Amino acid sequence: MIARLAGLMRRHQPCVVLTGAGISTESGIPDFRSPTGLWAEFDPMEYATIEAFRSDPEKVWRFYAPRISMLVEAEPNPAHHALAELEGLGFVRAIVTQNIDLLHERAGSREVIEVHGSIRTSTCPHCDASHGLDRVLRMLGDRPGTAPRCESCAGLLKPDVVFFGELLPEQETERAYALARTAGLLLVVGSSLEVFPVAGLPYETLEGGGQVAIVNVGPTPVDRSAAIRIEESAAVVLPELARILRSGGGSARQRSA
Ligand code: APR
Repeated sequence: MIARLAGLMRRHQPCVVLTGAGISTESGIPDFRSPTGLWAEFDPMEYATIEAFRSDPEKVWRFYAPRISMLVEAEPNPAHHALAELEGLGFVRAIVTQNIDLLHERAGSREVIEVHGSIRTSTCPHCDASHGLDRVLRMLGDRPGTAPRCESCAGLLKPDVVFFGELLPEQETERAYALARTAGLLLVVGSSLEVFPVAGLPYETLEGGGQVAIVNVGPTPVDRSAAIRIEESAAVVLPELARILRSGGGSARQRSA
């Protein structure tokens, strides 16, 4: 099956990869909707909606603070590194990720579109001042259990991640849809494809005449429309996919004579 996926990637370019929390579970970061996922333990309506944040930011920060520290301590896993290698070989045009953990960038991927934001910065809703991750971590460490405050106006900061009920960043969303529309192949890795508008990307590719491939543990609503579906860990499939494409000698760019 992985050899078939390699052949599909070779024949259907450009290939855009759509990743979800499942690509980071092997880095020790729980996903959301699998039986051991975050939402099995915490109610997203209580911690992950913009209303929850506005009504009790301190409570939401008490939920996010340990999560941000865990994300910072996590390391990219072989799946992240394989995608960075495939970008270097010319087989992956870009990664659209729903993840906020910065692991694709830390693995060396260059074209990464973060459609749900990231932990890279937090912004003051009152004066719009942006605060980098290091400053936020320091504030969280200095006063555990309290929300970090803006260094300009002392307003409570908001993490620059997309809460349920919030609009996605416009530029990233438009870019993601344009990439999906013109992709020869959209490779979905580690996402339940339950959350729109991102879950609409595979349909954009199909309507544009492209193919969809899925590497996911567990079913997704798009499985029936996928040319290939591999029920296996991303950390097993993607390194093998990179090995086959690398050893096949054929990079998506023409080899020099
Ligand atoms: N390899 C492949 N698939 C995996 C792996 C793995 N190692 N580990 C888990 N999975 C699968 C899970 O079984 C699940 O089907 O990855 C999928 C992850 O789905 P979700 O937990 O729903 O995560 P995601 O699709 O990224 O969620 C989308 O929902 O809560 C919001 O903002 C949050 O960005 C997130 C969005």
